[in-house]
Amino acid sequence: MAFLADPAAALPGAGRAAPGAIPALTLEGVEVRYPGAARPALSVDHLTIGRGERVAVIGPSGSGKTTLLRLLNGTLAAERGEIFVLGKRLVPGRRLPREQRRRIGMIFQDFALVERASVFDNVLFGRLGHAHPWLSLIGHFSDRDRDIAGAAVREVGLLEQLVQRADALSGGQRQRVAIARVLAQEPEIILADEPVSNLDPALTNDILGLLTRASERRGATLVMALHQPRLATAHAGRVIGIGGGRIVLDEAAARLSDDALRSVYGRPFAVSGGAAK
Ligand SMILES: Nc1ncnc2c1ncn2[C@@H]1O[C@H](COP(=O)(O)OP(=O)(O)OP(=O)(O)O)[C@@H](O)[C@H]1O
Ligand SMILES: [Mg+2]
Repeated sequence: MAFLADPAAALPGAGRAAPGAIPALTLEGVEVRYPGAARPALSVDHLTIGRGERVAVIGPSGSGKTTLLRLLNGTLAAERGEIFVLGKRLVPGRRLPREQRRRIGMIFQDFALVERASVFDNVLFGRLGHAHPWLSLIGHFSDRDRDIAGAAVREVGLLEQLVQRADALSGGQRQRVAIARVLAQEPEIILADEPVSNLDPALTNDILGLLTRASERRGATLVMALHQPRLATAHAGRVIGIGGGRIVLDEAAARLSDDALRSVYGRPFAVSGGAAK
């Protein structure tokens, strides 16, 4: 297998963020209510996220962070309002077309790895949206798909574990596989739901640094739900705070104040402080 010299340079559209371009994500008058719930889990009057932005979504447990990400990846339908992803309107109740789905990559909180498959195969599955639909079902991927998957494994520093099964990896290595898989997908938007829970602080910073650098190199838009404001300010350019299902904060990370965090968490909180769960 040949590995590309610079994986990011090989990607079509690297550095594609352009001023005045169609936003990556737009929500207008959106309301989501889970079946049987008395009040909406999330209400958003207006939200726009530009291409190439790096956004952290923070808020207490149950505030609506995952709900927002699920709306954006089209797996949850809004009761009302409109959502546009890369200029295309999401149609409630209708699955995103394959062409659109592959433009949005998701890193799940539990990583959703195939436990019995190798690191390489897990990452290769990130190419499913690009590969031939029938041939990929019988495990056939093109040389290009395999090269891109290999480059992604190298980018996250897991070449030595290439053939190791996912169930034999450490927590940090699993996180890297999930990141490599999403990079192999070559999405224009990366959504990450708490990509660094349960890791020690040094590893947490390494992994978030890896994810943010990799998406920046590609000009991809990154939206990540994080539990710690400290991580949000360190790794994102913009911080959106959700409290009780509403956006109560939308601020440049560099300007985030303790008062602003109090509005999100409903109690005193320091920007430099620890976990907010
Ligand atoms: N599938 C579901 N069915 C019914 N209610 C749900 C469902 N998923 C979430 N909720 C409710 O919607 C609200 C928002 O949940 P969500 O999972 O978006 O919060 P969160 O901010 O991601 O929390 P956490 O930080 O714990 O992950 C909560 O009140 C939750 O109980
Ligand atoms: Mg959540």
